[in-house]
Amino acid sequence: MSKQAVKIGILGLGTVGAGTARLLQRNAVEIYRRLGRDLRVEIASVRDEKADRGCDTESFALTADPMEVVNHPGIDIVVEAIGGETLAKQLVLAAIANGKHVVTANKALIALHGSEIFAAAEQHNVSVCFEAAVGGGISIIKSIREGLSANQIKLVAGIINGTGNFILTEMRNKGRIFEDVLQEAQQLGYAEADPSFDVDGIDAAHKLTILASIAFGIPLQFDKVYCEGISGLQLVDVAYAEELGYRIKHLGIAKLTAGGIELRVHPTLIPEKRLIANVDGVMNAVLVKGDAVGNTLHYGAGAGAEPTASSVVADIVDISRNLGSDRACHIPFLGFQADSIAELEVKPDGQFESAYYLRVEVNDVAGVMSQLASVFADLKVSLEAITQKEPARGETAVSVILITQRTLEAQITSAISTIEAMPDVRSAVQRIRVEHLD
Ligand code: NAP
Ligand code: HSE
Repeated sequence: MSKQAVKIGILGLGTVGAGTARLLQRNAVEIYRRLGRDLRVEIASVRDEKADRGCDTESFALTADPMEVVNHPGIDIVVEAIGGETLAKQLVLAAIANGKHVVTANKALIALHGSEIFAAAEQHNVSVCFEAAVGGGISIIKSIREGLSANQIKLVAGIINGTGNFILTEMRNKGRIFEDVLQEAQQLGYAEADPSFDVDGIDAAHKLTILASIAFGIPLQFDKVYCEGISGLQLVDVAYAEELGYRIKHLGIAKLTAGGIELRVHPTLIPEKRLIANVDGVMNAVLVKGDAVGNTLHYGAGAGAEPTASSVVADIVDISRNLGSDRACHIPFLGFQADSIAELEVKPDGQFESAYYLRVEVNDVAGVMSQLASVFADLKVSLEAITQKEPARGETAVSVILITQRTLEAQITSAISTIEAMPDVRSAVQRIRVEHLD
């Protein structure tokens, strides 16, 4: 006798929600072969009931009231694909209180409200799965939480925003203007509803918050992530970095050190020979270093309808396999037992170490190079390279590029203040961190 279909309600039929409905429809037979049960979308909520969704909306009910989905008595699993924090949180908590399992792609929701949501889910004996919240179609949550559960994780470093990587790649390869590429990323469905989340690094910081919790068994602490986006990057830095053998990527880094955990998101120069330096377009890649396994690299599409839907549907399949079983037998939400989540210290801003790329615009006069070099000598910061570029025709300013060795961020901040006060320095110093990831 065949088992009853698992019934699904979807909140939002935008890029992710419609992609999920489409994938469930197109691959229904293949999914049945794996699960032994049908997955059936019963109802979905949208704001505009007339819009074309790119999936068959005839086979399920459509409503403009999302509460109808979470209160629907026949629904087993609610997929939250509305985005944002306030309404999404309200709906997810209501679904949980109604005894429904939840799948979400919403990293902001998990990073900011995950602890409260997991506690409610525990109380109501339901699952909350969020594979699609990080790395789009890459199963990075499952890989760290389950595949690497034997390891002490030392480092997670990743390109975790598809829109940002798409913009950087198009700027570098085609010399395209930032705003044009961002607009294309929005049309392709990669960008957040508020794209400043992508360009200012907030989306990557949400994702890093989740990755760090799963990697180190620490609480979700978005407010402790140092966050810098890509909007301050200039094409000239992309070009100079290449001349020096580096690529600029926007990285999220979570690192376990003797002095505490580093949580930071910022543009980073990476040696071009590293695999991760060659991850282009909307692709994401996450390097995870475990004490037993060593380095592992997880790669795939980081945004877009079907790659994201691939992760959402995988979560639906996982929950469906366990329907009716006790949550106590399941994998803990963050991969660690709730009472073992440790409050390890997160290093404050300025207290982490990195190497640095600095671009200083100076008057083309004798002695400036030695003045710059002496600032670093005084602070006992070693320089790996110092290069003066040729001045453009008719220009009296030149760019000086410095690469430092690894040092405390606070030392570099102090060096930059001194340099910016020098009479021959023409503008603010451009600072980009350098990571060798070896
Ligand atoms: P989207 O295309 O803007 O879709 C949002 C959907 O939610 C739309 O169907 C919209 O209805 C509905 N909606 C929005 N606000 C609503 C409200 N106040 N009341 C009722 N319905 C509302 O967004 P998305 O790109 O699919 O992203 C959804 C979530 O997935 C976000 O948390 C995002 O961060 C995450 N995510 C996105 C991607 C990606 O590649 N796009 C990848 C991974 C994770 P209408 O269509 O009728 O306006
Ligand atoms: N806006 C996000 C990105 C969607 O570009 O990575 C995937 O999380």
